[in-house]
Amino acid sequence: MADRALPRHLGIIMDGNGRWAKKRGLPRSAGHAAGAKVFKTIVRYCSRIGLEYLTVYAFSTENWKRPHDEVMALMGLFKTYLRDALDNFLSENVKVRFLGDTSAFDPQLKDLIDEITRVSENRTGMVLNIALNYGGRAEIVRAVQLLATDVQKGQLLPENITESMISSHLYTAGQPDPDLIIRPSGENRISNFMLWQSAYAEYVVMDILWPDLTTEDLEHAFDLYAARSRRFGGI
Ligand code: FPP
Repeated sequence: MADRALPRHLGIIMDGNGRWAKKRGLPRSAGHAAGAKVFKTIVRYCSRIGLEYLTVYAFSTENWKRPHDEVMALMGLFKTYLRDALDNFLSENVKVRFLGDTSAFDPQLKDLIDEITRVSENRTGMVLNIALNYGGRAEIVRAVQLLATDVQKGQLLPENITESMISSHLYTAGQPDPDLIIRPSGENRISNFMLWQSAYAEYVVMDILWPDLTTEDLEHAFDLYAARSRRFGGI
């Protein structure tokens, strides 16, 4: 479909890695490794078709509760793939941003995050937001705290706080809200992902585990999105 409306901003809740591994009798970490490969394929595809913004949910503020081994395996994967991305995303002209409290990570991962952010800062292609140690509620609390500081300093009156001020204190400041959020694995949940920004997002839940997701499946989600009528509360 050549003239189909593509979302400007796509959000992806990458889910189902554990179930993918279990179905094959493999450790959960093998599911995450397979999921990381799909992450790379999908990022490259989205960049090539001209998507403007892609946000992937890679690690939530709640994911620390998982067994230590699994958390460590994920940290190892982030390092491997972010190091690899440093070369690949640059040739793709992708600008990488991180959403979440990245100060909680070990120094090696933190340095990598800082390096990618710095090196890709002036890139003009797709913006890739990687949500790491991210939670939608924590993000809103942080925005409120930042605004409260301005109130405390006497620079802002509480009654003058607007929706756009909250938006501009989120990690996604300056970016359009997501138009489409897809969730593979068949779960019908938001799971604390982009709570503020997704007020008018279209959702597509897919009965496919993330490591099995193909670019054809993504195209199918784009077709479903293009067929929807978005009214933003109007008629
Ligand atoms: C949720 O599946 C997935 C995660 C918690 C990790 C997602 C991370 C990746 C795909 C790696 C991405 C890599 C980079 C560099 C961003 P789950 O474990 O909750 O699956 P389950 O619900 O089947 O147990």
